[in-house]
Amino acid sequence: MRHLIDFGDMTREEWEALYARASEIMDAPERFVDVCHGKVSCNLFYEPSTRTNFSFQTAMMRLGGSVFGFADPNSSSVAKGESMKDTVRMVSNYADVVVMRTPWEGSAKAASLYSHVPVVNAGDGGHMHPTQTMADLTTITRLRGGVDGLCLGLCGDLKNGRTVHSLIKAMAKFRDIKFFLISPRELAVPDYMRVFMREHNMWFTEVTGLEAVIPQLDVLYMTRIQKERFVDPLEYERNKGIYVLTRRKLERAKKDMLVMHPLPRVDEIAVDVDDDPRAVYFQQARYGMFARMALLEHLALQPRDEHPAPVEIGTKPICRNPRCITQMERYLPPLIKKIGGADCCGFCDAPLE
Ligand code: NCD
Repeated sequence: MRHLIDFGDMTREEWEALYARASEIMDAPERFVDVCHGKVSCNLFYEPSTRTNFSFQTAMMRLGGSVFGFADPNSSSVAKGESMKDTVRMVSNYADVVVMRTPWEGSAKAASLYSHVPVVNAGDGGHMHPTQTMADLTTITRLRGGVDGLCLGLCGDLKNGRTVHSLIKAMAKFRDIKFFLISPRELAVPDYMRVFMREHNMWFTEVTGLEAVIPQLDVLYMTRIQKERFVDPLEYERNKGIYVLTRRKLERAKKDMLVMHPLPRVDEIAVDVDDDPRAVYFQQARYGMFARMALLEHLALQPRDEHPAPVEIGTKPICRNPRCITQMERYLPPLIKKIGGADCCGFCDAPLE
């Protein structure tokens, strides 16, 4: 694996090797304090982040490497109008790995075309967030012993929640997974995700109520209503506060169910749930750091690609998704991929009409 753009890029074996490494690091972190000595990571954060940015930074520091970058693009040449292609090509002169978060779908894929060094997608708009999925799978595997055979409830904003999309993609690599997708109808998973689940023969059912399904779940994955992604503020007003997990609701859940959340939480988990032993969301954030250590070690030690292949210059976007990176960065090539037999955008997965 050269870049981590989408969890689907990884095979189950590659994931298991990374998980095994993350476990070794957790068990004896002192053995890893020098493995990235002299290596440098560049963290480009075009949108807010606490956990992801901090955990990538501390992951690199704990491996003996260093970190530079920005957490606010207005402090860089992006504010002068520099294209993403130029920014990425530049920083890949200085760094051994680039970690990137943006509000545009498909942006990490775009960056990977121009980078001399591996690129990690730390969240591309409402599309994907594969390293959160690494945190999620590490948590589930450490605390439940494995992932096969689990029944998962994904609850909240399944339309805009990139952590949900990445987690579903990852689950296609495991056996006998059942999904309860719990959301209001207008915040249900995007069509490309539904097509993906059918294509991979994944068992899923879409429901609007949390309480009725809670007793069946092994993992309940709560998510925030993604306020910043709503085009229509009334749609947000209609849906905010719609699911709140409380102690009372948890009474009906299995005794060993895991309550997970990528965080930040707004109001979807009542504070009194935090002390329930099933609430593992803060631990999940710590597992995420170890998982990112395993990933950074794998990527930052790869040789630099001095001559990335030339990339065709696009003339106008073929994708109509207004949040797709191709709408912003017009030089990007027309990339097409097949999802469920249909032509889709190679950057953001949206169907091409
Ligand atoms: C998530 C994200 O940014 O997508 N946070 C995170 O990385 N842990 C979830 C969210 O913002 O709701």
